Amino acid sequence: MEKIVISGPSNLFGSVKISGMKNAAVAVLFATITVNDECIIDNLPDISDVNLSLKLLENMGAIVVKLSDTKYKIDTRTITTITAPVEEAGKMRASYYIAGACLSRFGVCKVGLPGGCDFGSRPIDQHIKAFEAMGAKVRIDEGYIDASAVNGMRAANIYFDCVTVGGTINAILAAVRNDGLTIIDNAAREPHIVDLANFLNFCGADITGAGTDTIKIKGQKQLHGCEYTIIPDMIEAGTFMIAAAATGSEIMIENIIPKHLESMTSKLSETGIRFEEGDETLLVCKRTEPLRPVNVKTLPYPGFPTDMNPQTAVLLCCINGISRINETIFNDRFRYVNELRRMGAIIDIDNGIATIKGGIPLKAASVRAVDLRAGAAMVLAGLVAEGNTSIDDIFYIERGYDSIVEKLASLKAIIKRVKIQDIT
Ligand code: EPZ
Repeated sequence: MEKIVISGPSNLFGSVKISGMKNAAVAVLFATITVNDECIIDNLPDISDVNLSLKLLENMGAIVVKLSDTKYKIDTRTITTITAPVEEAGKMRASYYIAGACLSRFGVCKVGLPGGCDFGSRPIDQHIKAFEAMGAKVRIDEGYIDASAVNGMRAANIYFDCVTVGGTINAILAAVRNDGLTIIDNAAREPHIVDLANFLNFCGADITGAGTDTIKIKGQKQLHGCEYTIIPDMIEAGTFMIAAAATGSEIMIENIIPKHLESMTSKLSETGIRFEEGDETLLVCKRTEPLRPVNVKTLPYPGFPTDMNPQTAVLLCCINGISRINETIFNDRFRYVNELRRMGAIIDIDNGIATIKGGIPLKAASVRAVDLRAGAAMVLAGLVAEGNTSIDDIFYIERGYDSIVEKLASLKAIIKRVKIQDIT
């Protein structure tokens, strides 16, 4: 077991290269099941969610060959099972994409219910609604999604009752090889949905409208392999933007798509942070005056991402005055607040809105990562706090951040992983 130890406050300097997007990578990896051919996927981040996805594919019989640190060849022609055991599938959220992919290719699946970060209830009723609309009978039985379409999956018109990233992705996977035209209304618009559609279209699919709230899928009997490069991770980029803003540093963030960061650069600009945008870079300029408090509301893309809620709270703790974060996506996303309070943060939560009394310096403490983005927030808090902060349960962080310790150390942070002696 390891923990992260940070000696703050930090003054960051230099440039950091953003890795491939976790939530695009896991969708594309499981989409290879529908392709039934050999695919080469590049710009995969070295994180445990990707490594587990590759392991799940191998366990299903796919042949996975590592070509470089970020590039893998995946041949799914050799898949021999439609089952993903709950012991493995339960370790991450995106494993449920196996269900949509197997229904599309085989008309049947038995997939362990997903795990993933705990933000309160994370139902999958919209995924089931989409599968049933396409002709599948779905049972949740003994911890498994047990589904089959005895007459094969068929095209359908699907209207989601709420905007769901996972539901939209699973509906695309379930529809991509069905006869006819499937239309998804009230679809999520995240960049990783566009990335998935682009990958599948490279494989011969016919998907239009990804990135809008209406997606049309003209099912294809067969797809073929392709070479594909995953987009950069907008949430990792946002996390480093906050690292620079909160520590008053100037850093260059490389390998980004500025359009994906617009809600974050816009909100941070409201505080007084200045940016210089390049084609694939973003310079976070050193602040020359005190920052201003702001109000944040999380929304589906292109709104301010819920996955930036915890990190943004750390910045708002550093800004004199009252700021608020209104979390509209998950009903229990504020589990990180108690950890920040251990560092002296003054945050009240009421009815999904965090009111932050900023300007009181955070103090180093022993804290833990309670989920992936909460863990990232603890790292940011350690960068700004006076003293040595230690962070336990860093496996959460390693699920979604490729080499965060090494990247921050290269930006001159005093940060390291420390082995925790087993207490016997
Ligand atoms: C994806 O989760 C991401 N995970 C999450 O990122 C992200 O926070 C979330 O989208 C929102 O952007 C992956 O892509 C692997 P949703 P997902 O379905 O798909 C409700 C991270 O940090 N809902 O868009 O599970 C749900 O309860 C992770 O990288 C239903 O009611 O999110 C929530 O309130 C954390 N029924 C809202 O919709 C359903 O069937 C949005 O959830 C599905 C969802």
